[in-house]
Amino acid sequence: LGNGLAPTPQMGFNDWNAYGCNVSESLIKSTALAMHNNGMQTAGYSYVNIDDCWMTHSRDAAGRLVPDPAKFPDGISGTASYVHSLGLKLGIYEDAGTATCAGYPGSLGHETTDAQTFASWGVDYLKYDNCNNTGVPAQTRYTAMRDALASTGRPILFSLCNWGQENVWTWGAGVGNSWRTTGDINASFSSMLSIFHSNVGLASYAGPGHWNDPDMLEVGNGSLTAAESQSEFSLWAEMAAPLIAGTNVASASAATLSVLTNSRVIAVDQDSLGKQGTMVSTSNGLDVLAKPLANGDVSVALFNETGSAATISTTAAAIGKTGSSGYTLTDLWSGAVSSTAGTISASVPAHGTAMYRVAGGSSGGGTSATGEIHAVGAG
Ligand code: DGJ
Repeated sequence: LGNGLAPTPQMGFNDWNAYGCNVSESLIKSTALAMHNNGMQTAGYSYVNIDDCWMTHSRDAAGRLVPDPAKFPDGISGTASYVHSLGLKLGIYEDAGTATCAGYPGSLGHETTDAQTFASWGVDYLKYDNCNNTGVPAQTRYTAMRDALASTGRPILFSLCNWGQENVWTWGAGVGNSWRTTGDINASFSSMLSIFHSNVGLASYAGPGHWNDPDMLEVGNGSLTAAESQSEFSLWAEMAAPLIAGTNVASASAATLSVLTNSRVIAVDQDSLGKQGTMVSTSNGLDVLAKPLANGDVSVALFNETGSAATISTTAAAIGKTGSSGYTLTDLWSGAVSSTAGTISASVPAHGTAMYRVAGGSSGGGTSATGEIHAVGAG
């Protein structure tokens, strides 16, 4: 969407994965404060997003949405003021139907009023869900809210949540800053894997201001192993996905925070070229993905879908790097730097992902539309 927002995929927090309907002002404020103090804000997480269940069951006499006074004693505007005071932004949730998925008033037919209300409260982000939509085409319903948000004059990032229905990727770029490509994620490897497979082929639809959204992160949740959490974060970054943390941030373990704040992996997600990575090869559950980066480097992810450790190998040429007798590999998880004549290979644990930034030679992607050689590294 050409509203100037999300030039790189949005980063933030949303309460749904960890708390479901149990959202409150105190949760949002304590999460914002934790993000401010634990390195997440510095790492790039800027949106603190409220999901379903924040309002009362009826509109007020003027037809406006009403925050539940027990859950939000200072209202959304008081919550927004606090979040803004920390240098963070506030996101909210509504639904492009007659009611939200949890049964609260929806925005269908109330788009202008609701967008004006959100803007008046200081909201910076709208996640717009798809329940109870009465069969009106999604493009019509989501476009109505796009226009209502634009009319407010306030920059509000617009996150489409119609679960990959009606080929949203074919029209989403003109309507929203991101669009969900699948149904809901849960904190299991099988869920993450199936969403990855649905999202990975949609690279051509993504770019600055308009991203495929494979749903929020489960890093830190459920029984995901360390390897599985690292895989989700690696693959989401390689696919230029919005990075919306979905765990209990205030009590997150050091291990969870070290995944969520890995600056080398985040730099891949946030690379200014804005290309979603693609599958270069896949064989028996061993996947190689490549994502061209703005400085001519290429990020490679070696993903082991299988339940046993395996060696995954590719080459510089296969990921689009040629023209040099040597390349520099930076392991994005450990930080270790090595060099190679061309082979890129790692022993990857079950369900794990190794990730490298490959520098040197020239690349098919990058900013080099004319094909000049980038003088980086050996060669
Ligand atoms: C469905 C969405 O896909 C979820 O992310 C969440 O917002 C729930 N609805 C809330 O009811």
